[in-house]
Amino acid sequence: TGKRAFIAGVADDNGYGWAIAKSLAAAGAEILVGTWVPALNIFESSLRRGKFDESRVLPDGSLMEIAKVYPLDAVFDNPEDVPDDVKTNKRYAGSSKWTVQEVAESVKEDFGSIDILVHSLANGPEVSKPLLETSRKGYLAAISASSYSYVSLLKHFIPIMNPGGSSISLTYIASERIIPGYGGGMSSAKAALESDTRVLAFEAGRKYKIRVNTISAGPLRSRAAKAIGFIDMMIDYSLQNAPLQKELSSDEVGNTAAFLSSPLASAITGAVIYVDNGLNAMGVGV
Ligand code: NAI
Repeated sequence: TGKRAFIAGVADDNGYGWAIAKSLAAAGAEILVGTWVPALNIFESSLRRGKFDESRVLPDGSLMEIAKVYPLDAVFDNPEDVPDDVKTNKRYAGSSKWTVQEVAESVKEDFGSIDILVHSLANGPEVSKPLLETSRKGYLAAISASSYSYVSLLKHFIPIMNPGGSSISLTYIASERIIPGYGGGMSSAKAALESDTRVLAFEAGRKYKIRVNTISAGPLRSRAAKAIGFIDMMIDYSLQNAPLQKELSSDEVGNTAAFLSSPLASAITGAVIYVDNGLNAMGVGV
């Protein structure tokens, strides 16, 4: 309660970012979100037109309020990084100050500080290609959007994070076990994200008293996951084989994020926390 959260990677009400926003709001946090520039218009107009009202309902019956929506493209750190074709692109030209550094500056100007930073975004243009068929460009794009984007977000937001604050990202078990179909360097990007979680926990803990953790989430039928193309199979596989044979709800990930962001988790940092009905613990499917 009384805390302020910035959640990067919310563009509809189906993904983990939205569920995390709701759990944090239910716990009394003020919610700011960062929305991918090309998705901004449709997200904001849907919000305004009440399209998300049903999924905005919190356990106490009130509606989640989003204090401000910031346009964000986490593959660009500052205006000098942005190539001309993106600058002049119709979907980007209508918005401004959407590089990571500028968003952090805007949040500072508008609100002063935050307590909770959430990274709930990923992108791999060649995700449907096996690693052996992935181009250098596709691999580096996956790492840029899905791993370095987190380093950059934390780097730029940490100066405005209050001591005792918490930072969370979302990862997937394909980082450590073979998940055929999660290609394009996305498995590599998640491995980097998990390793960075440990190093960043050390650096942010020592210098800023900030905790850094990542949630290894089970399969959810989000927009991003549907684009990969095997999500129904993964949900079905988990239902068949996990210790807990139930469909994973995004709220279960949201509630874990709220716990990790609270004083209840004050000694947890540098950790990969599995929220996957226990599937990670299985050796073989039965
Ligand atoms: P989602 O589609 O709700 O979220 C991904 C978001 O990333 C979208 O809002 C998209 O607009 C945004 N995005 C993409 N590129 C961006 C950029 N350059 N700058 C800013 N935003 C950008 O999908 P989901 O699945 O909820 O993804 C959230 C996180 O959860 C991701 O890190 C994903 O890898 C992770 N995850 C998802 C699982 C699943 O089964 N859905 C399983 C385990 C982890």
